[in-house]
Amino acid sequence: MKYFLFSPLLLLTALDAKPVLENQSCKVCHPQIYQEYQNSMHSKSSIYKDILHKAVWDKHPAKAKGEYSCAKCHTPSDHQLMNGKSQLADNPTQQSEPISCQLCHQIESIEKHAKSNKNIFTSKDKHFFSANKEKKGEKIKFKQESRFFGLLTIQSGSPHHSIDYSNENYYNGDACMGCHSHKQNAKGFIVCDMEVKQGDSKETCISCHMPKVQGSLANHKESPSHAFHGLSIHNSPAQTLAKYVKLTLDQQANAFDIMIKNEATHALFPQPLRLAQLRVNIEREGKTIPLKTESFVKIIGTTGKMSMPWLADSIISDNSIKALETRKIHYDITLQKTDKLIVVFGYYVISPKIAKKLNITDKETIKFIPLTSKRFILLETSEQDK
Ligand code: HEC
Ligand code: HEC
Ligand code: HEC
Ligand code: HEC
Ligand code: HEC
Repeated sequence: MKYFLFSPLLLLTALDAKPVLENQSCKVCHPQIYQEYQNSMHSKSSIYKDILHKAVWDKHPAKAKGEYSCAKCHTPSDHQLMNGKSQLADNPTQQSEPISCQLCHQIESIEKHAKSNKNIFTSKDKHFFSANKEKKGEKIKFKQESRFFGLLTIQSGSPHHSIDYSNENYYNGDACMGCHSHKQNAKGFIVCDMEVKQGDSKETCISCHMPKVQGSLANHKESPSHAFHGLSIHNSPAQTLAKYVKLTLDQQANAFDIMIKNEATHALFPQPLRLAQLRVNIEREGKTIPLKTESFVKIIGTTGKMSMPWLADSIISDNSIKALETRKIHYDITLQKTDKLIVVFGYYVISPKIAKKLNITDKETIKFIPLTSKRFILLETSEQDK
């Protein structure tokens, strides 16, 4: 067990303050994780921070009835709203912690339902679940001991909360599936589906999206790293994730194939707003020759036409790249010796077509975001290849 010196003063300041916001207490002792979280979509999932969520909500039929039906996943930390004591309104929780630290750390289990899954929370106060392979199974209560006749106070665990390392959902990623699995509309049609398939993969939602990054997990603890909390695919390419989408080239005599290997255990960008693309350019004798852009998209709608999610009753088309799939894209083009092939795989958070329909013009939101790219230099073209 690790011990460390402990300042009673800090404990008092942390516990005395009664902040409006739940995350303020966590911030005192977990500053780095708190900082990362500020950039995550979990801190921006309300209509007041996410213009896409707002744009779709504004058109949703439930809005006219004044029933914000998105709260259980988008703003579950707004407790007044959740227990029906208030209507959807701008407040500090909606602004900065619609899915708070403790909400995520108190998910005890997931109930599976056809419409959408449901998070079941622990009823114990300040009891947080976490994952640590070395401590798996342990439940740690804060302990304080006096040493050297009371001259030194030594503590173990966290002075603010107990930690429970025994919840399997924080190891296998199921803690994410109360919100991220799927969602049906009123017609019983599934409008969002991650299409999760574990296959032989050893990776989980948590190992890929919350990799260990530098910096201590808490102020009072010397740990070299902590789990990354800035989960987002908005605005910037998630660099840590690029390695899970691999691009390779298969060159033939008069043609070539680009292979996109998706190592994620879910379909890539299967949400109705997204559009993924493969863009290929040949650099030849100082010129750049663009080839046809390949799009990957799942389109939902009614009677053969794209529609808003609440109207949709069928899949119109779907060539999104599935969990653990390797997609081959064929090009009937003869590559020449000394050609350079620039291959980029990336995405739009909102496809330009839908952005137009929803009147979204914000440049940061509508830009193309490269996820991964590769430059193939063709020096050795064998006789056979020619
Ligand atoms: C007064 C300081 C303090 C406050 C306030 C505090 N924590 Fe902690 N927390 C710690 C310390 C110290 C540890 C490390 C304990 C250990 O590993 O022995 C810790 C550990 C944790 C862990 C488990 C880390 C692991 O090893 O996996 C989680 C999860 C956690 N805290 C969440 C929170 C959340 C959420 C809040 C806000 C509601 C919060 N903490 C507030 C000090 C604090
Ligand atoms: C079952 C949980 C759940 C419910 C209920 C839910 N959502 Fe979501 N929503 C999510 C999750 C999870 C994401 C993130 C999906 C992703 O990025 O793959 C999301 C993302 C979105 C996005 C894309 C946001 C962006 O910035 O890219 C929109 C738009 C959206 N939801 C609209 C709504 C609306 C409107 C409602 C209520 C009528 C609603 N959602 C209800 C879980 C839910
Ligand atoms: C309480 C519901 C909830 C839980 C639990 C939850 N998420 Fe989310 N998550 C959301 C919502 C809602 C969004 C979309 C916010 C938006 O775009 O408006 C989101 C966004 C994301 C994004 C960014 C997508 C984007 O559009 O930028 C990632 C990645 C993500 N979640 C992964 C996870 C992982 C991994 C876990 C488990 C450790 C998890 N989430 C747990 C509700 C949840
Ligand atoms: C092998 C690694 C890997 C695993 C395992 C994995 N993901 Fe992903 N995930 C990715 C990659 C790569 C992307 C695309 C990332 C990007 O654009 O930044 C992605 C994207 C996402 C997005 C954004 C999708 C969108 O269109 O908004 C969400 C949400 C997400 N993952 C949640 C999860 C959840 C929940 C799980 C567990 C069921 C999971 N991921 C498991 C690698 C992984
Ligand atoms: C989307 C859900 C989610 C949210 C929101 C969230 N966490 Fe976590 N957190 C997790 C999961 C899952 C892990 C376990 C990661 C692992 O395998 O180590 C974790 C790990 C931790 C750890 C231990 C880190 C380590 O390296 O072991 C601490 C401390 C922590 N969280 C604190 C916080 C604080 C503070 C906040 C708010 C600023 C927060 N969490 C918000 C899901 C979440």
